[in-house]
Amino acid sequence: MTAAVVAGLTSLAVSQSLGDAEFNVVDRGRYLSILGDCSACHTAPGGRPFAGGLSIETPFGDLITPNITPDRDTGIGKYTQKDFQRVMSEGIGRGGYHLYPAMPYPAYTKMTADENAALFAYLQTLEPVKNQVEVNQLPFPYNQRWSLFAWNALNFTSGIFRPDASKSAQWNRGAYLVEGPEHCGTCHTPKNALGGDKDGEELQGFVIQGWNAPNITSDKHKGIGNWSADDIVAYLKTGANRFDLASGPMAEVVTKSTSRISDSDLAAIAAYLKDSGETPTVAPVAIAQSEPVMKAGAALYSDRCSGCHTPAGEGILKLFPKLANAPLVNADDATSLIHVVLAGSRTGATDAVSTSPAMPAFDWNMSDDQVASVLTFVRNSWGNAAPVVKPADVAKLRGYLKDQ
Ligand code: HEC
Ligand code: HEC
Ligand code: HEC
Repeated sequence: MTAAVVAGLTSLAVSQSLGDAEFNVVDRGRYLSILGDCSACHTAPGGRPFAGGLSIETPFGDLITPNITPDRDTGIGKYTQKDFQRVMSEGIGRGGYHLYPAMPYPAYTKMTADENAALFAYLQTLEPVKNQVEVNQLPFPYNQRWSLFAWNALNFTSGIFRPDASKSAQWNRGAYLVEGPEHCGTCHTPKNALGGDKDGEELQGFVIQGWNAPNITSDKHKGIGNWSADDIVAYLKTGANRFDLASGPMAEVVTKSTSRISDSDLAAIAAYLKDSGETPTVAPVAIAQSEPVMKAGAALYSDRCSGCHTPAGEGILKLFPKLANAPLVNADDATSLIHVVLAGSRTGATDAVSTSPAMPAFDWNMSDDQVASVLTFVRNSWGNAAPVVKPADVAKLRGYLKDQ
């Protein structure tokens, strides 16, 4: 064999392996985009994936998500990898403007430059879509991007994830996923008046868009301390487990992100959630069944609800969620519960719950008083104990839902 042929073969082998390497980078980037759930926000209902146009509620008004396909005029086609890195790690767009934290850069900052390069490589492979988006719909003064400088000073620390050497590799992977790309705290961590995360209250629950993203720490009464690691994995993978079905924004997280990630990453998230932020709370005492509001609630429950949720609130596995001894039901804030009763809900259709059972809407045939008392009853029966639901809270959410 001549040297030339050998050289030819070698370079072929090299270019093939380079090809594989490139392919792997793009694959890795695609996987990171699933972890980060980028398309969930950067896709309008019925719109082209990643082409933007979804309206996002913020405490200051609405933003419309930008187009992040590689279109040069309306997308991020002019971005360099360095520009992209700045978006992810510092929340600064190409040209130096501050991004609103509705883009979860306070979480994405935990991702490494390598990962961002892979993600960027993947985004570059998308078909460029022409879709001009006017992101900023905020009223003055919130439409002033310079004000974000102050926001960042108060609420944002940039920097990649630092593992905790006293914990296992699996725990650290889980912590990284939850705090970083999966940005679970964006919804589940209580916020201060400026919309920044409250220190020391990670994952203890917060109300977003008319839903309560509940406490998901290992607290046994308000959190998911009674769930095993397998229960957590089942919920994130399929949207259902023996305790609960995922609805609303969480059904979307499951459908678009957590049902599509690897089993080892799911196990890592579960390991982390099982061993994080234990905040022993004193379980409140349930309201006595003899109180008038409980009696009224019991009658309504047996009439309107028990057919599906069963008389003792046990529910039916994967069809009707268990209401007895359920952290979601015990949450201090009853927004999600009121939401579900008024507007009904359909769980995300994943393989495990492909029949996608629905909770009917009761807004048309139950008064604010009735919804309040049936929920007060549910929240104080069968092992549950939680504050009363006030008719005024129901009225408020009814008004909010009408405006949607
Ligand atoms: C929770 C919703 C949400 C998620 C999830 C999200 N984004 Fe964003 N993103 C936004 C919003 C809103 C903006 C606009 C912010 C602004 O202009 O101030 C934005 C801006 C951007 C920008 C800047 C575009 C420009 O031209 O200014 C890039 C790039 C970007 N996002 C990429 C991503 C990537 C990559 C992911 C996944 C890892 C992601 N986003 C996930 C909401 C989101
Ligand atoms: C877009 C907002 C959002 C994001 C992001 C999000 N969640 Fe949720 N999550 C919710 C809401 C809202 C609920 C309540 C769903 C319901 O009422 O069925 C919920 C419910 C849950 C529950 C069920 C708790 C219970 O007591 O029934 C778990 C567990 C959970 N989320 C874990 C996670 C994890 C882990 C992540 C990150 C991988 C995450 N969530 C990301 C909004 C979110
Ligand atoms: C036709 C069957 C049916 C009836 C009747 C019904 N529900 Fe439901 N309910 C469901 C289903 C299915 C879900 C799960 C929907 C989802 O998660 O998207 C659900 C969810 C809920 C949830 C949220 C629980 C969670 O963990 O996410 C609450 C609270 C609830 N129902 C309360 C009630 C109350 C109170 C009544 C009576 C006023 C009632 N339901 C009547 C089927 C029903």
